[in-house]
Amino acid sequence: MYDGFAHLYDDLMNDFDYEAWFNYIQEIFHRFDKNPVDILEMACGTGNLSYYIGRERYKLTCFDMSEEMLSIAYEKLKRFKNVNILRQNMVDFHINKKFDGVISVCDSINYILDEDKLLQTFTNVYNHLREDGIFIFDINSHYKLKEVIGNNIFLEDRDNIFYTWQNYFDEEKDICEFYLTFFHTDDGENYVRFDEVHRERAYKVEEIEGLLKKAGFIKIQAYQAFSFNPPDSESERINFVAFKI
Ligand SMILES: C[S@@+](CC[C@H](N)C(=O)[O-])C[C@H]1O[C@@H](n2cnc3c(N)ncnc32)[C@H](O)[C@@H]1O
Repeated sequence: MYDGFAHLYDDLMNDFDYEAWFNYIQEIFHRFDKNPVDILEMACGTGNLSYYIGRERYKLTCFDMSEEMLSIAYEKLKRFKNVNILRQNMVDFHINKKFDGVISVCDSINYILDEDKLLQTFTNVYNHLREDGIFIFDINSHYKLKEVIGNNIFLEDRDNIFYTWQNYFDEEKDICEFYLTFFHTDDGENYVRFDEVHRERAYKVEEIEGLLKKAGFIKIQAYQAFSFNPPDSESERINFVAFKI
């Protein structure tokens, strides 16, 4: 996962407005009267959200598991003295510090395929939060992975990238497998092909809430992403906010 794709990731995500995403996170802080200083961002990828957090002078620690993604994040973030980049796994990360806020965006949580591992992740987040800490993350909804992108094929023809995306949804395991094939060119004539397989687990809202509670979180809110409305049966991205106390 995220090897060659890492180098095309920002090109392919250019329709995602990370500044708006950052503003939504700030709105969540304000809504719940939080003024975090130390923030941890898990699965920061190429640092698209981290850039805005760093620019706003929060003290940010961010990590990802993929070296390829981190190498791109590093180029974006090296100008910020208040940003620290690490390579860690969400499931068993250890940082010798506690945070006011932990964040993870763009369905990174769906990459944890096993419920026990997700519980371990949530418990780990809980243990890295200060007493009045807040945990904010989003998921691709069960509906989106099963009904919208599962068992579907997408293809896109961009300036220097042609790619296909073939998805299979395993109903027994609730796992969506993405078979990605990229053809990339620098000169418009010679194309290099590479393939990657990604897997995301489809979780229902109640499953996530149950695991957060088991991990110790007391109050939990679920929203249709980028709003403060409750999710409905066709919400595709769901944003969770969980509070330690
Ligand atoms: C869809 S990308 C999102 C990246 C970034 N948050 C963004 O908004 O662009 C998912 C990211 O999760 C990372 N990831 C997946 N499983 C992980 C794990 N167990 N620990 C740390 N990072 C992980 C991948 O390497 C990848 O960078």
